[in-house]
Amino acid sequence: MTYERYKILIVDDNEGNIVVLKEILGQLKQCEITSATTGNEALKQILKKEFNLVILDIKLPDIDGYDLARVLKSHKRTIDIPIIFCSAIFTAEEWIRKGFELGAIDYLIKPIKEEQLINKIQFYLTLHEKQTGLMHELMHTNKALEKQNRAKSEFLANMSHEIRTPMNGVLGMAQLLQLTELSDEQKDFVKILISSGKSLLKIINDILDYSKLEAGKVELDAIEFSLKELVRETVIPFLIEAEKKNLQLVYNIRGEIPDRLIGDSYRLVQILNNLLSNALKFTHVGSVQLDVSLLRSQESKLLLQFVVRDTGIGIPANKVTIVFEKFTQGDSSTTKNFGGTGLGLAISKSLVAIMAGTIRVESQENSGSSFILEIPFKISSEHQHPLV
Ligand SMILES: Nc1ncnc2c1ncn2[C@@H]1O[C@H](COP(=O)(O)OP(=O)(O)OP(=O)(O)O)[C@@H](O)[C@H]1O
Ligand SMILES: [Mg+2]
Repeated sequence: MTYERYKILIVDDNEGNIVVLKEILGQLKQCEITSATTGNEALKQILKKEFNLVILDIKLPDIDGYDLARVLKSHKRTIDIPIIFCSAIFTAEEWIRKGFELGAIDYLIKPIKEEQLINKIQFYLTLHEKQTGLMHELMHTNKALEKQNRAKSEFLANMSHEIRTPMNGVLGMAQLLQLTELSDEQKDFVKILISSGKSLLKIINDILDYSKLEAGKVELDAIEFSLKELVRETVIPFLIEAEKKNLQLVYNIRGEIPDRLIGDSYRLVQILNNLLSNALKFTHVGSVQLDVSLLRSQESKLLLQFVVRDTGIGIPANKVTIVFEKFTQGDSSTTKNFGGTGLGLAISKSLVAIMAGTIRVESQENSGSSFILEIPFKISSEHQHPLV
C-alpha cells in the first residue's frame, strides 16, 4: 500500500531554527516539510493543507504558540492535528504542563537533540501509517459490508417476489374452490386455507416492501386525490374488525383543509393502514380514532397531521423508541398473542422519511397510544376549495 507523505509544519520565528529542523527531519524520506515564521502565516498554511503534525515554537511575533494551539484545538477540522511544542525559554514545569493541558502530544526543549527528535518523529510516523492502514481497511470492510447488505436485500426482494406469484395462484384457486360444492368440513378447511394464505401474502408483501425500501428502490408518485375520500375509504374496511371487537372506530377531518391534494396517496394509505391495524389489534376495550388536521400551509404546499389514537394496551416506556425498528415487537409474547412480524412500523417509518415527513408515538402502558404522522402535500392548483 502506498501512503501519502507525512506533512509536517514547523512554526518558528527564528529562520536558523527552521533550517536546523528541516535538515534533521529531511533525513526521513516520507516527510514533507513546510515552515512558517508567524502564527498567522501558520494558520494560513493549515487552512490550505492538511498537516499530520505541527512543531510549534511558543514565542512568536504575533499569536503565541499556546494561543495558536487553542485555535487549532477548537476547530473540527484541526482538532486532531498532533502538536509538539518546542521552546528554549518556556522550559519551567508549569509551562510544560500548560502545553500538555492544551492538548500537545510532546514538549521539546531547545537545543533539539537530533537523535531524540528523529526517533520521536519516526515513532509518530509509524503510528500514522498504522492508523492510515486501519482506516483503509475499515473503509474496504465497510464497502464490502454495504455490498453484502445490498445483495441480501435484493435476494430478499427477489425471493419475496418469486413466492408472491405462486401464492396468488394458491389463493385464487382456493377462492374458486370455495365456490364449488363442498361438505361443511371441506368448507372449513378452505376457509382456513384462504385465511392462512392471506396472512402469508401479507408477510411476503411486507418483506418485499421493506427490502425495496432498504435498497432505495421505492419511488414516490405524485397523484391528485381527495383527502376526504382517501380517509373514508381507508377507515371503512376496518369497521368490520372494530365491530367484531366491540370497539368504536371514528375519524375526523378537523378545520378547513383543501380537499384536492397531490402526493403519493397509495403510500399514505399504506401507512394509515399499518397504524389503524395496529390500533385495532392492540386495543381490547374503548375506541380507535383517526384525526386529520392542517398544521400549516404556504402557497401551494401544506403540512397535514394524522393522529391515530387508541385506548389499547399501550407501549412500555422502555420500548417506545424501538417499536419503529424492523422485526421488533413490544415484547416477546406479541407474536404469540397478536401475530405479525414487526415490520409494519419499520415500513411506515421508512415511507414517511422518503415522503419528507415525520412519525412519532406517545403512549402510556394500559391506557393507550397515539401515533402522530406529519406529511407535506401539494395543493392541486385546479381545485383549491376548502373542505367544509
Ligand atoms: N397501537 C399500538 N398499541 C400498542 N402497541 C403497539 C401499537 N402499535 C404498535 N405497537 C407495538 O409495536 C410493535 C411493532 O409494531 P409493528 O406494526 O411494526 O409490528 P406488528 O404489528 O407486531 O407486526 P406487523 O405489522 O408486521 O404485522 C408491535 O408488535 C407492538 O408491540
Ligand atoms: Mg403492525
